[in-house]
Amino acid sequence: MLTHGTVLLSVAAVACGLPSTVPLQLSEGFWRGDFTVGVQNFSVSQENSSERANAKEDLQLTIDTGSFAILVKEGLYKPGPATQQTNISEFIQFNGASEDGIAPASETIFYVRDDVQFADVTVHDFLAGNITFGDDLPGDGVAGFSPPASGNEDLSSGQGLIETICAQGDLTPCQFGLALGKDRQGSFIFGEIDASKISGDVTVLPTTKTDSWTVRNATAADAPNIVIDGTPFSPILATFDSGTPNIIGSLQQVRDILTLVDYNITEQTNEDHITVALGTYDCARTPARVGFSFPPSTAVHYIDLAANELNRTADGRICTANILGTSTVDAPQWSIGQTWFQGRYVQHDLDNNTISFADLA
Ligand SMILES: *[C@@H]1O[C@H](CO)[C@@H](O)[C@H](O)[C@H]1NC(C)=O
Ligand SMILES: *[C@@H]1O[C@H](CO)[C@@H](O)[C@H](O)[C@H]1NC(C)=O
Ligand SMILES: *[C@@H]1O[C@H](CO)[C@@H](O)[C@H](O)[C@H]1NC(C)=O
Ligand SMILES: *[C@@H]1O[C@H](CO)[C@@H](O)[C@H](O)[C@H]1NC(C)=O
Ligand SMILES: *[C@@H]1O[C@H](CO)[C@@H](O)[C@H](O)[C@H]1NC(C)=O
Ligand SMILES: *[C@@H]1O[C@H](CO)[C@@H](O)[C@H](O)[C@H]1NC(C)=O
Ligand SMILES: *[C@@H]1O[C@H](CO)[C@@H](O)[C@H](O)[C@H]1NC(C)=O
Ligand SMILES: *[C@@H]1O[C@H](CO)[C@@H](O)[C@H](O)[C@H]1NC(C)=O
Repeated sequence: MLTHGTVLLSVAAVACGLPSTVPLQLSEGFWRGDFTVGVQNFSVSQENSSERANAKEDLQLTIDTGSFAILVKEGLYKPGPATQQTNISEFIQFNGASEDGIAPASETIFYVRDDVQFADVTVHDFLAGNITFGDDLPGDGVAGFSPPASGNEDLSSGQGLIETICAQGDLTPCQFGLALGKDRQGSFIFGEIDASKISGDVTVLPTTKTDSWTVRNATAADAPNIVIDGTPFSPILATFDSGTPNIIGSLQQVRDILTLVDYNITEQTNEDHITVALGTYDCARTPARVGFSFPPSTAVHYIDLAANELNRTADGRICTANILGTSTVDAPQWSIGQTWFQGRYVQHDLDNNTISFADLA
């Protein structure tokens, strides 16, 4: 999920028995995986696996390459023996926190240090966020897979989950991929790209070092483009964000695109003064196709047609476009959300600071 916040105060090379592939499911617009936050003290019942299984509190968290923190939804995070309180707190606003892509969410978070487990690998003393007040979030919370945002002094001393797994020697080379199908089933894959799962060309893009999900363009000419129905609309600053349901840009650029394709524009402003602009169209018309191109290639990588329609009213007549404008984003920034990922394999290489993608086989 795209955040803007302020701090108040090769598979064979994968080490240590990490499973190479972890199943993910699309639920209510978000891809979820199982995590354990605050591992229970098993020493009493270590021999009793059924008791141990019951003691584990699995949380279904959104796999979010657009934020960095593990955040547990209000009321769900009980302290365990490994929990250490910190005095770090944060206020975060998410864009696109609901299935129809519209709802922003504001959250007040107190961080603790704790054990976090994902796919049988445990990290200790990890900064995990206890949401103490805020809007509803999908599932049990969010699992961020990006590095901490730069310029966030209290938090940048910490590390993102995947960086921590790499730093403790559990993942070499430091790479992972998301293979998200068109059938609501996906995989989180540790290590190098699994070549058996892809077809066609692999596009490799350099990313910024501090935030390996944002494409780095050396000049304006090599910036990615957002493409509408075959015509490049504008060069953009692109961030890949598996935890956002749709494609999110600035209010003005989204209004311009919606006007161009003759959609109706609906605007909403919430109590936090965040304005969103969404497009609606008659479901009977041919929808506009939204895609991206990455110079020097001119190939356009469109959102899969089935995912292109983000929502449809109960009577089946009014469809919602897959792009959303928000006042929390400044042009030319765009966030490429999970609907674009469907049918693709998106790979993050944290050693070389690249993001790559290819079509799923
Ligand atoms: C394991 O724990 C379960 C649940 O408390 C109990 O029913 C079972 O008898 C225990 N098994 C052993 C081998 O202690
Ligand atoms: C999270 O916050 C709630 C409410 O303040 C508190 O009851 C709970 O113990 C906290 N959990 C942790 C792990 O600190
Ligand atoms: C776990 O439980 C055992 C037995 O009750 C206790 O001796 C040990 O100190 C506990 N460990 C932690 C980290 O709390
Ligand atoms: C937070 O804790 C750190 C050390 O644990 C301390 O140096 C710092 O002064 C504390 N900050 C506040 C605002 O209490
Ligand atoms: C990258 O592309 C964006 C979008 O065109 C542009 O605003 C920015 O200046 C470019 N960066 C550099 C370093 O040229
Ligand atoms: C678009 O707006 C017009 C004029 O307000 C309205 O008649 C029409 O039903 C709207 N269509 C959709 C799909 O929202
Ligand atoms: C999305 O669809 C649901 C019904 O399926 C409807 O209640 C909701 O208002 C729709 N959202 C938008 C933005 O049209
Ligand atoms: C990527 O990084 C690894 C490890 O740091 C290095 O061995 C490899 O040569 C790099 N690959 C590319 C294509 O830069």
